[in-house]
Amino acid sequence: MSALRLSSVLLLLLPSLSGEDGLFACGVMRCQFNARDARDVVYLEQLYFNGIFQGQYNSTLGNFTGNTEKGKQMAETFNKSPTMIAEEKQNIHLNCIDYIPALYHNILDKTAEPDVKLRSAEPFSSQYPAMLVCSAYNFYPKQIIVTWLKNGKEVTSGVTTTQELPNGNWFYQIHSHLEYTPSHGQKITCMVEHASLSRPKLYDWDPMPESERNKIAIGTAALVPGLISVTVGLICYTRRSRAGREPVPTS
Ligand SMILES: *[C@@H]1O[C@H](CO)[C@@H](O)[C@H](O)[C@H]1NC(C)=O
Repeated sequence: MSALRLSSVLLLLLPSLSGEDGLFACGVMRCQFNARDARDVVYLEQLYFNGIFQGQYNSTLGNFTGNTEKGKQMAETFNKSPTMIAEEKQNIHLNCIDYIPALYHNILDKTAEPDVKLRSAEPFSSQYPAMLVCSAYNFYPKQIIVTWLKNGKEVTSGVTTTQELPNGNWFYQIHSHLEYTPSHGQKITCMVEHASLSRPKLYDWDPMPESERNKIAIGTAALVPGLISVTVGLICYTRRSRAGREPVPTS
């Protein structure tokens, strides 16, 4: 059925249901697929009256089936019409298959790589002395996996992760927290898996990155010109370490 035909069918059928109070008819045209080609496309036309599912056309079956008494009568009438069945055979192309390339091109191909930041923060509970936050920003599509690794092995205890939060502009963000007890020589990594990445991306936590060491060296060197500049340098450093640092991807 074309959209026009579908609406006229709904209107024609309304009087046959006139025994009921308040009528509301609804037709849904649906395409189901999960590949770029037409391999597994299913086209459905579903009819509802007053919120009750009456019956549908299913392209896999190639005919209409009814779910209620009325729906069964309707399906029988439709299945007897060769024009109707021929039209439905066209519809899988017109309403589904012909749109697949555009759908993939406009929506599904537009992956955006997450921008990942790893930082330390105050732990939620007093049970752990330290906490790291791994945040991924501006990614698309929504599905993402953020995992914590200790010396290359997955850890799940002390981990809390938010849901994927929509930014309202097609992009999403997610935040994962790891509460832990730091120990010497332990390597902590945040691993991010996403459709935009060909393989998982690893972000190692460096408790004292090179740039911070340099800042201390500069601060010490600044001792010579005067005490004030050293104090300023120290204030900056504290703020920075609270606000977080950019991790270095190691993959
Ligand atoms: C369509 O028909 C196929 C084949 O009988 C069935 O497997 C599938 O579940 C049907 N789809 C719906 C939504 O009813």
